[in-house]
Amino acid sequence: MTRFRGPKGIDDILPPRSRVWVRAELAFLELSARFGYGPAITPLFEATELFARGVGESTEVVEKQMYTFTDKGGRSLTLRPEATASIVRAVIEAGGTAGVMKASYWGPMFRYERPQAGRRRQFHQAGVEYLGEPAPEADLEVIEFGYRYLEELGVADVEVRLNSIGDAADREAYRAELTAFLEERIDLLSADARRRVATNPLRVLDSKVDADVVATAPVPLDHLGPAAFEHFERVKAGLERLGIPYVLAPRLVRGLDYYNRTVFEYVPRGYGAAQNAVGGGGRYDGLFELLGGKPTPAVGLAMGVDRIILAMGEETLPRVLDVFVVHAGPAWRNTAVELTSRLRREGLRVDIDLGDRTLRAQFKQADRRGARGVIVVGEEWEGGRVTVKDLETGEQREIPVEEIETWALRH
Ligand code: HAM
Repeated sequence: MTRFRGPKGIDDILPPRSRVWVRAELAFLELSARFGYGPAITPLFEATELFARGVGESTEVVEKQMYTFTDKGGRSLTLRPEATASIVRAVIEAGGTAGVMKASYWGPMFRYERPQAGRRRQFHQAGVEYLGEPAPEADLEVIEFGYRYLEELGVADVEVRLNSIGDAADREAYRAELTAFLEERIDLLSADARRRVATNPLRVLDSKVDADVVATAPVPLDHLGPAAFEHFERVKAGLERLGIPYVLAPRLVRGLDYYNRTVFEYVPRGYGAAQNAVGGGGRYDGLFELLGGKPTPAVGLAMGVDRIILAMGEETLPRVLDVFVVHAGPAWRNTAVELTSRLRREGLRVDIDLGDRTLRAQFKQADRRGARGVIVVGEEWEGGRVTVKDLETGEQREIPVEEIETWALRH
């Protein structure tokens, strides 16, 4: 018999561990609603050209990491490596933002990476895109969103790394200066960096293996035009007012080509040697036009859910059931099933052991399945009573059947 294995570099997420994922997703839904975002649901694959153009031909994502295939109609399609290009494509297709549009999304993305912890081939992003707003306070709000999300999930001690890479026009002069600097030191650069000097010199700035060489390279921050400079000043002042700590990261350029002005990443301080970002984003005022739309300023971010969950560590799993119904032998099964059905209809989260297990085994199951309490249906039922046990405090007692709901909700 063939034993199948899941595709390399992709995690299966199963119960009970998946409860942490639900927690992360619910927190995201709640926070995005609190910040005024509405969900956007876009395809998991798009025309390959969309990413080539939107994300950038010379980025690592497009050069090396795309899952591209031809469909039966002969079209070249690619599993989305990120969602920003899709959202912008969808909004352009729908006729634009009509003022401001705030879109949020949660879902899998695909990149052909060398798999390791926190670097998966299918991973999950929770993102927001603030479309149609040029004010620096929109950047501020997006940065705050990511920070609060991590705070909500208990990922403490996060460094917000912040930079501005200026506008396209600022970058032209800067790019020439940087290229000259890198060309003078071409022999000291890694093969990858050498190749990028011609295609995408900015990317060399955050190349870890070339850190020594680029340590003295000119940085975009020193080449901002007056508008980008003023914009950045307002973002920084806003962060200070809201009490969001940040560090300037003059060599942060990010791996996608659509950014201008503000770019940022969140890096938990205590999380592994790799210092991987658990989220990042920035402003991308040129992307709508690049993809054939009307000029539309925009800023957004995506949080890496897999990495956030790693950073959350082995916390105790949240209890997800109000009660678990246990029956004292097969004679009580039907009564237990009816009670379960009734409590579920009343809105409680209830599960039941339907098998012929011993009481002890059923109690164990209740704990494993994340119940806060247990109701035992047995002989006491005849007298209109049940035994209940609070699994959090260990307290056990008998109560009248009519009090079950009150007990289940209160304990
Ligand atoms: P990104 O930095 O490429 O940005 O991805 C955002 C986050 O996704 C990363 O910080 C990381 O936590 C997570 N991530 C990326 N690749 C992997 C992987 N292979 N395995 C696990 N996690 C990963 C974007 O994708 C932009 N679309 C963000 C954005 C939205 N910018 C503006 N709007």
